[in-house]
Amino acid sequence: MPADKGRRTKDQSQSLLSQACGFCLWSFVIGLSMLTYAPQLTRALAASRIVYRRVVRRAFHHFYRELAWTYDTVAWAVSGGLWRAWALAALPELRGRTLELGFGTGHLQMALAARPAVAGLDASPQMAALAARRLRRAGHAPRLARGLAQALPFSAAAFDTVVATFPAEYIFDPRSHAEIRRVLAPGGRLVIVPFAQLAPGRYAGLVALAYRLTLQPPPRRDAAVEAELQRLTIAGIALAPRWVQVGPSHVMVLVGDG
Ligand SMILES: C[S@@+](CC[C@H](N)C(=O)[O-])C[C@H]1O[C@@H](n2cnc3c(N)ncnc32)[C@H](O)[C@@H]1O
Repeated sequence: MPADKGRRTKDQSQSLLSQACGFCLWSFVIGLSMLTYAPQLTRALAASRIVYRRVVRRAFHHFYRELAWTYDTVAWAVSGGLWRAWALAALPELRGRTLELGFGTGHLQMALAARPAVAGLDASPQMAALAARRLRRAGHAPRLARGLAQALPFSAAAFDTVVATFPAEYIFDPRSHAEIRRVLAPGGRLVIVPFAQLAPGRYAGLVALAYRLTLQPPPRRDAAVEAELQRLTIAGIALAPRWVQVGPSHVMVLVGDG
């Protein structure tokens, strides 16, 4: 082998060796600092999760308010055009004087417009305006109140049924539970439509991803979910879960009598 070719090969191996040593050293230093700073890193990760959660909560707040005008389009997109039909899956369960919590853009209020003794309540002025416009355009007088599920502006035992379709976080709040209990007449009914599942497929996969990104569990139609729902009690009312088929999708309807 010529002398300069041998020197080149030797130089190349030395450079490779020094690169490998550098890589090992850096890995060691990074690994050591990760170990040293593990508690801080864990805290930073937990903090970023909390921040993300806050950002998502804020985004939903704006979605129900300043961006309420986009609600029907977004709902249409994530339901494959079935959102209204999903909300109306609650209809056969409603009886007597009925209060709808979180009426949104008013699909269920429209379907209840011909019934006497119906009221709706929503926290968002923008949603109230959209729902009122929808009702007036169809020739109905809106029976809508603005307020919080946690402080209902209705007298005790004023309703035979309280219904909420796709409720926001208020449905987990014990203050809402106490209020639902208070405004329901003895033996009154609670109806909740918490979620629906699209027919499996690529589109449903995309929607599930959107749910995950907004920190909501993607709807699942399986035995584990049903078993969990079987144990669900809200406002002291044990709710019975039932899947209702709507087109190619399934809607979960929870019904309980107090
Ligand atoms: C996901 S939307 C559901 C709207 C409608 N029920 C539907 O099926 O499309 C939730 C609604 O609850 C309302 N909301 C949120 N927090 C509330 C609270 N604490 N009290 C009453 N309504 C509330 C929002 O303004 C929004 O209109």
